[in-house]
Amino acid sequence: RKEGVSRDEKLQELCEYMEIEFSLYDWVGFYFAAESDTVLYLGPFAGEPTDHTVIPFGKGICGQVAVSGKTFVVDDVNAQDNYIACSIDVRSEIVVPIFVNGKNIGQIDIDSHTAEAFGDEDVLFLEKVAEEVALLF
Ligand code: SME
Repeated sequence: RKEGVSRDEKLQELCEYMEIEFSLYDWVGFYFAAESDTVLYLGPFAGEPTDHTVIPFGKGICGQVAVSGKTFVVDDVNAQDNYIACSIDVRSEIVVPIFVNGKNIGQIDIDSHTAEAFGDEDVLFLEKVAEEVALLF
């Protein structure tokens, strides 16, 4: 690991890398749970800025994963009732929780402008990424 580089800088680089390298990943970001475990705060991200910098637990796909601790793949965001739209261009989404010492501390959130963009390989890959990210905490 690089020395002297902050965790946020590493996460920022990771977001930019994934957004550039994976053609179907159009927005890549992190949300982290507040101390209170009632809201998520937007962390480093790559892609269009979003208005949703604070998301209550339970709200949207991200808020649901904060509660469930389970990876959530959405093939068609328009078919979801409990969904927070960050951009009208988004068609599918994946949210993968990050666990540190068994606690769900946050998540990787990826949006795609293509429907059904996220398959089993993405789930396996991103759950591995989440494990690596957990090591930074
Ligand atoms: N769509 C997410 C909100 C975050 S934006 O995608 C960046 C949700 O429903 O939780």
